[in-house]
Amino acid sequence: MSNAVLKVKNLQVRFRGRSGDVNAVSGVDFELYEGEILGIVGESGCGKSAMAKSLVQLLPSYGVHLDGEVLFDGKDLLKCSEKQLRAIRGNEIGFVFQDPMTSLNPTMTIGDQIIEGFLKQNPRTSRKEALAHAIELLNIVGISRASERVFEYPHTLSGGMRQKITIALALSCSPKILIADEPTTALDPTVQAQILSFMSSLQKSKKTSILLITHDLSVVAGFCDRVIVMYAGKIVEVAPVNELFYNPKHPYTQRLLKTIPRIDLPKDHPLFPIDGNPPLLNSVIQGCAFQPRCLTALPICREKLPPLHPLESGCQSRCWLHHKEANL
Ligand SMILES: Nc1ncnc2c1ncn2[C@@H]1O[C@H](COP(=O)(O)OP(=O)(O)OP(=O)(O)O)[C@@H](O)[C@H]1O
Ligand SMILES: [Mg+2]
Repeated sequence: MSNAVLKVKNLQVRFRGRSGDVNAVSGVDFELYEGEILGIVGESGCGKSAMAKSLVQLLPSYGVHLDGEVLFDGKDLLKCSEKQLRAIRGNEIGFVFQDPMTSLNPTMTIGDQIIEGFLKQNPRTSRKEALAHAIELLNIVGISRASERVFEYPHTLSGGMRQKITIALALSCSPKILIADEPTTALDPTVQAQILSFMSSLQKSKKTSILLITHDLSVVAGFCDRVIVMYAGKIVEVAPVNELFYNPKHPYTQRLLKTIPRIDLPKDHPLFPIDGNPPLLNSVIQGCAFQPRCLTALPICREKLPPLHPLESGCQSRCWLHHKEANL
């Protein structure tokens, strides 16, 4: 495996709330390797976005408690000052979020938004050169009539185009890491395919490491190298993409895969939704968080949280079924 560009150790994100603290992320450890696309999947509310935003402290500063380590380029990002973080965000770590309007400034033209960040990082470049760079980027992400659109405002473009522009913006300073949180969820399949194949070519040509958060397991199958499965603020499985689909280890992953409709099965083949709901993250969770919904739970699952332990072929699973010491 190549070098780790990001090492996350025991990351915790807690939101203070009226009805108790919400433990959105509780003790997440993972590494992102150079040039890999690492997928993050899991049911709504399991802490994917909170985790992604906490990496460079994009969560609100009030009412949020962060703990752990996020090691990038010899620094712990959780200990960096706002000034240091501002130099890293956008330049070394780029972001694409689900709703492009929240990432774009409605009062600035598309070109000015790209140029602003680029000139900050390359102060000796002339405005004319920066504009040419902005047009080139728009062409790269597949915006037609780029030399005209560079002077337009975000509201004049379609949702798909705006999302392509947030990607151009995220890439304007050639970041080492791109964090993409549901970048294509609201888009039609054609634009989704264009955006994902662009991200994949970027990963190949520039060795950019991509953290791709998505609900769409077909996107994971088609684009990711490795996958992290989260449940109730914790990682429950880590696996290379083929292992995850052909040999899922954790009962939650196995059930998640059964919820996808399959074209090779008869139309009346039933889908298997996972009964019940994930636990509330503001309550104390005893034992394994998935245990109340698990069809193979053991007595120990109710009492003790299983550790995330390594299995063969680079997989990890947080399940007592796979643990030698769990008195089955
Ligand atoms: N700003 C906030 N203040 C309080 N609680 C929050 C805040 N943001 C997220 N949460 C809570 O943290 C938990 C994790 O939320 P998060 O947005 O990370 O989930 P997610 O896995 O990204 O879900 P989705 O797939 O729906 O995007 C949820 O219980 C959510 O209600
Ligand atoms: Mg989210």
